Amino acid sequence: MDVESDPNGDWSLPAWTYSDPEFFELEMRRVIRPSWQVVCHVSDLPQAGDYHTLDYAGESIIVIRGDDDQLRAFTNVCRHRGARLMDGPSGCARKLVCPYHAWTYGLDGQLVGVPMKSDYPNLDPRKHGLAVVEHEVFEGFIFVRLENDGGPSVAEMMAPYWDEVQPYRFGSLQAMGRVTLRPRAVNWKNVGDNYSDALHIPVAHPGLKRLMGNGYGVEARDHVDKMWGPIIDRLSNAPSERAYQKYLPHVPHLPPERQRTWLYLKLWPNIAFDIYPDQVDFMQWLPVSPTETLIREIAYAVPDDRREMRAARYLNWRINRQVNAEDTGLITRVQQGMASESFTVGPLGKSEVALRSFCRKIRTLIPEARQWHKPAPGWSRRQGSTT
Ligand code: FES
Repeated sequence: MDVESDPNGDWSLPAWTYSDPEFFELEMRRVIRPSWQVVCHVSDLPQAGDYHTLDYAGESIIVIRGDDDQLRAFTNVCRHRGARLMDGPSGCARKLVCPYHAWTYGLDGQLVGVPMKSDYPNLDPRKHGLAVVEHEVFEGFIFVRLENDGGPSVAEMMAPYWDEVQPYRFGSLQAMGRVTLRPRAVNWKNVGDNYSDALHIPVAHPGLKRLMGNGYGVEARDHVDKMWGPIIDRLSNAPSERAYQKYLPHVPHLPPERQRTWLYLKLWPNIAFDIYPDQVDFMQWLPVSPTETLIREIAYAVPDDRREMRAARYLNWRINRQVNAEDTGLITRVQQGMASESFTVGPLGKSEVALRSFCRKIRTLIPEARQWHKPAPGWSRRQGSTT
């Protein structure tokens, strides 16, 4: 539907879509399963047998480097009785051995060992390798997709911003720590709405206001929202912010206009890259239930051992730890308010381009999102909407 003629174009998604189990079910099927999800960076898997896992949408995916140096992605599921194969977020293995009955898979996913093999006279091991999951490596970051509905590749999504991102040397990044997982008692869309909401920055993030003045901006393309803020010269009176402004050193690989800019890219539908001069992190908000979300995050950096750079990276973490705490309060407050029957939808301002874009896409994929009031339970089955 064209934007001008969409009667819902000036309105947010209705509140019921932020807690309804049937709507959540449809989102998993139509939004999350066909979308790209970032797992890790190629530098996290330097050796054959190194793997990372990602659990979401009721699936567990394992990305592993083979003996032939190739990266592959599989569901983390044994083909015998369906047991979860590997535990934990990462590790290194010579073979993938199921803890239940010891079926064994090579790093290429092939079934290479079956105890009591004669017990299965009709088993063709070539047909019982691990189930392959589509993956894409975009500038060092490894993405997976459970279903291909014909949507764009990560590279195609990022194309409008490629020139802007290239100087940050994504391909050379190395992890600064481990993945953190932070559960939040909110619907996943609330995390994303807040991430792309530029209006709240000067109101609810005093630290960002001190660092960026009124320079925060937002724009939306088809598959990526961009937000940005310049680090201004006037020194903040808050110690961490002031020190960051002071110590952030010149970054040789960045052009002048990138030396003092914080850049944020949000990829449809639930991934963000926070791109700072001193480091880059990804953050994804994985839906767990209609009112629970897991925020998964890790920071990377181009190796730089200068003392000022180490200080800037630590200060950045301190500043954004406070921003995250403020955001947690905000999204919790919105989720609570949306539970009131007095609230249906809210108006979207002309400048709220990223929110408009997200709501439009959800309404296209799930037309029931146009209904301001929650339909009676069973609505998705009655309307034949479950597929
Ligand atoms: Fe994996 Fe039986 S379930 S070996």
